[in-house]
This record gives sequence, C-alpha cells and structure tokens, in this order.
Amino acid sequence: MDLKFLLLLAIALRTALTSVGKVCMETATECAEVSVEEVATTVINLEELESKISRLERRLRAVEQPVWQISGRPDDWEVCAEGPCRCRPETRSISCWGRNFLDVPPTQLVPNDLLKLDLGSNQLTALHRDTFLDLRQLVHLDLSDNQIEHLPLNLFFSLHAVTHLRLSNNMLRELHRNQLLRMRRLHILDFSANKLSTLPATLFLTTSTLAILDLSSNRIVALPSGVFNGLRDLEELLLTNNLLTTLPGTTLQDLSNLVSLRLEENRLEHLPVEFFEAQIHLRELNLRGNQFTRIRDGLFKQLSSLVVLELSTNRISRIDLKAFEGLTSLKELQLGHNLLRTVSPGLFMPVGSLDRLVLYANGLAVLEAGTFKGLTNLTILLLHANHLRVVHPDLLQDTPNLRKLQLEANYLSYLPPRFLDGIPSIRQLRLERNPWHCDCSAAYLSTWLRKRYLAGPRGNHLASNKSSFWEYGAGAVCRGPGALGGRLVVELSFHELCEGQWASMRGLVPRLPVESPTTTLPSTVLH
Ligand SMILES: *[C@@H]1O[C@H](CO)[C@@H](O)[C@H](O)[C@H]1NC(C)=O
Ligand SMILES: *[C@@H]1O[C@H](CO)[C@@H](O)[C@H](O)[C@H]1NC(C)=O
Repeated sequence: MDLKFLLLLAIALRTALTSVGKVCMETATECAEVSVEEVATTVINLEELESKISRLERRLRAVEQPVWQISGRPDDWEVCAEGPCRCRPETRSISCWGRNFLDVPPTQLVPNDLLKLDLGSNQLTALHRDTFLDLRQLVHLDLSDNQIEHLPLNLFFSLHAVTHLRLSNNMLRELHRNQLLRMRRLHILDFSANKLSTLPATLFLTTSTLAILDLSSNRIVALPSGVFNGLRDLEELLLTNNLLTTLPGTTLQDLSNLVSLRLEENRLEHLPVEFFEAQIHLRELNLRGNQFTRIRDGLFKQLSSLVVLELSTNRISRIDLKAFEGLTSLKELQLGHNLLRTVSPGLFMPVGSLDRLVLYANGLAVLEAGTFKGLTNLTILLLHANHLRVVHPDLLQDTPNLRKLQLEANYLSYLPPRFLDGIPSIRQLRLERNPWHCDCSAAYLSTWLRKRYLAGPRGNHLASNKSSFWEYGAGAVCRGPGALGGRLVVELSFHELCEGQWASMRGLVPRLPVESPTTTLPSTVLH
C-alpha cells in the first residue's frame, strides 16, 4: 500500500467534505428538500468524519517518519558523536535539544544502552513507532516543547526503565488506553500544555509507581471514574487550568499519599463531601479561580495534614460554620476575591494553628466580636479592599500575635478605642484609603499612632520610620472635617481633634454625628 497516496487521498477527501459541509450550511434552503435537522445531522457526521480522517492523517504521518539507527556495538558512542545531536558517553546521554528538527535525525546513531534522551524544543509533529525500540535502559525521556500530535501505540513499549517522561507543550488531543502499558517504573509524567480533553479510564493502570502527574493546561472537561485508581504513591497531582466542572466523589479514593493537589483555574462549582476522604497526608490544596459559591461542612474534615488551603477568586458567599473542622495543621487560608459579606463568629475556631488569614477583596462590612476567636497564633491578617465600616473594639483581642494587619481601602471613618491595644507585636499596619474622620473619635487612633511612630520605645520597628508614606502613621489621612481634611491622623494632637469637634458642633464645619469615645458599637455608623 502506498502511504503517500493514501495520505493525499485523505487530505483531498477532507477538503471535499469540508466544502460540501460549508455549502450546505451557507445555503441551507437550497441544500434541500432536506430538513434543517437532516442538514445538521449531515454536518455533524461530516465533522465526525473529518476528525476520523485527521486522526488517520496523523497516524499515516507517524508511519512515514524516518527512524534513526539504534544499535549495540562497542564503538557506538564514538559513532554517536558524529551525528547532529550531542552525545555524552560518560553519562550515556544524548541531547538533541533546541535544534529545530522537523523529524528525528536519521543520521544519528543511538547506542542502545542510552540512559537519557532529550528531544525537547524541536518541531517534531510525529514520531515513528520504532523511534525508541530497544532502549530498554532509558531512564529519562524528554519530548517537551514540540508539536507532536499523535503517539503511535507501541512507541513506548520498549521503555521498561523510564522513570521521567516529559511531553509537555505538544499538541496531543488524545491518548490510547495502553499508551503507558509497559512503563512500570514511571515516577514523573508530564502531559501539561497539550490539548487533551479527556483521559482513557485505564491509562494509569500499570503506572503504580507514579509520584508526580502533571495534566495542567489541557482541555480536560471531565475525568472518567477511577482513572487514578491504584496510584498509591502519587504525591503531586496537577490539574490546573483545565475545564473541569465537577469530579466524581471517588476520584482520589486511592491517592492516600497525595501531598499536593492543584485544581486551580477550572470551573468547579462544588465537590462531593467524600471527595478528600483519603487525603490524610495532603499538605497543599489549591482551588483558586473556580466557581465555588459555598463551602459546606465536612468537605475538609479528613485533611488533618493540610498546611495551605487556597480558595481565592471563587464566588464564595457562604461558608458553613463547621467547614474548617479537621484542618488542625492549617497555616495559611486564602479567601481573597470572593463574595463574603460576613464571617460567622467561631468559624475559625477549629484552625488554631493558622498563621496567615487572607480575606481581602470580599464585601465584608462589619466584623463582630469573636470573628477571629481561636486564632491565637495568627501573625498576618489581610482585610483590605472590603466594605468595612464597623469593627468591634475587641475584635483583635483574639489575635495577640498579629504582626501584619492590612485595613486599607475600606470605609472606616474611625477605629473604636482599645481596638489596636490587643496586638502589641504589630510590625506592619496599613490604614490608607479610608475616610478617617478627624474629630474627637479619632483621638484614640491618633494617640496610638503617635505612640508607635513618633515616640515609640527603642527597638520598635514602626517608630520614626518616614521612609514611605503608608508606613508613616500607617497612611491614615483625614477625610475631614474642614481644614483637617488631608492632614495625617498621626500628626494631629488631641487638642486639634477635639477643637475641631467643638468648632463643628457650633455649625462652622460640616461633620458626621458625634459618637462618645466609650461607645462600643455606635448604631450611627452601622449604615
Ligand atoms: C501556636 O504556636 C505555638 C508555638 O509555635 C505552638 O506550640 C502551638 O501548638 C500553636 N497553637 C496551635 C493551636 O496550633
Ligand atoms: C523603614 O522602612 C523601610 C521599608 O520597609 C525599611 O527598609 C527600614 O529598615 C525601616 N527603617 C527603620 C528604622 O525601621
């Protein structure tokens, strides 16, 4: 059979079919006597046929590829060095990296005791199925950064010893279910940045030694149930940047040694409550950039080793009160860029180990007493870019070890007395872009800032540092009243602040209603 002829035939057939399809679509009325449904069906059939033909094309191209010579004679490594690739007998490695090869170079001799082969950064589109025939000792194979569209079924069948296989940044659309059949030592497998839309259910059936599996930046819409079954040594699973909308509850049931799971930048709306049940060793879970709206009780309850939980840039408006139960090792919780309007007091009680809590860019308006109860070890709290108007005076009594607090870009016009007294270890404080109202109610903040920034005790890092604007006086600038607008809160004396109030009470300057400095939660500022 003449393969070239077949290939040409396939291409011609495809061109013909596509144009028929186009004509039919464009002039659907003329195209028939035929009903719209029939036209649609025809077009779908044409598409199917086209995809079959292009698959055939890819296979034919693979069959046509040149093969290099693989041999096992004693002087092989000397002959190897005469080829276009770089041969290193001392490490038994060959590098053909970055040579713009369109095909595997047929003039390259490949010794069959090769350990490492790098074909990365070329322009390979297809590989003949015998390209790696008899390379039984090969350990590392790098095919990344090419344009490979198709892997012949037996391509890897000799590669019993390969531990590292890299195929990232190619054009693979599908994989055969037996593609990895003989690769029983595989440790690192990288299929990232291809065009895979799904995986065969039994692809990983024999690769039980896999430790790192990278499937990120593909077009995976769904995973077949049980696809990761048997991968008991898997430590890192990367599914970042795919099109996943949901996952079966049993997806991770065998992955009891998983340490890092990356599911960010997908379209997940929720996960079944049993989803993480086996992940007792998981340390890092990334769910950023999905479409979660609610975090339900129990989802994380088995994750007792989890250190980092990344949930930012979702649409979370609700977190059930026991959602974080079981997260006894958690150090970092990222919830920025969500739609939280409130945080229920007690929510963080189960995560007493937390060091860093990120809540910026939500719609938080009020923080009640007890919101951060249990967070005695918290050192970083980010609350900027919310709608905060009211914070309870005792809010920070629960976080005595806080070193960094960001409250900028909120609607705070004052801080209640005592508010900052609970955080003696504070090193970084940001208060800019709030409408600070500089009357007597600002006297507490002004006094506190002056003590810290102007006359702080030796060794106080906040003291006397005018090096950047926001650091000096935490960047708090008066919105008003009157002439005090634009002044730094830290530079106003008690006298000036309360004089201003006296003046405004006589109607000379417009101002907000007066609050007694001892009021805990004045109802006037709740609105
Ligand atoms: C807080 O930190 C201390 C010191 O590192 C540690 O001993 C303690 O267990 C931590 N508390 C919690 C609730 O994890
Ligand atoms: C002042 O702040 C700057 C910027 O963060 C820092 O590099 C510098 O060490 C600080 N100086 C003092 C005296 O704390």
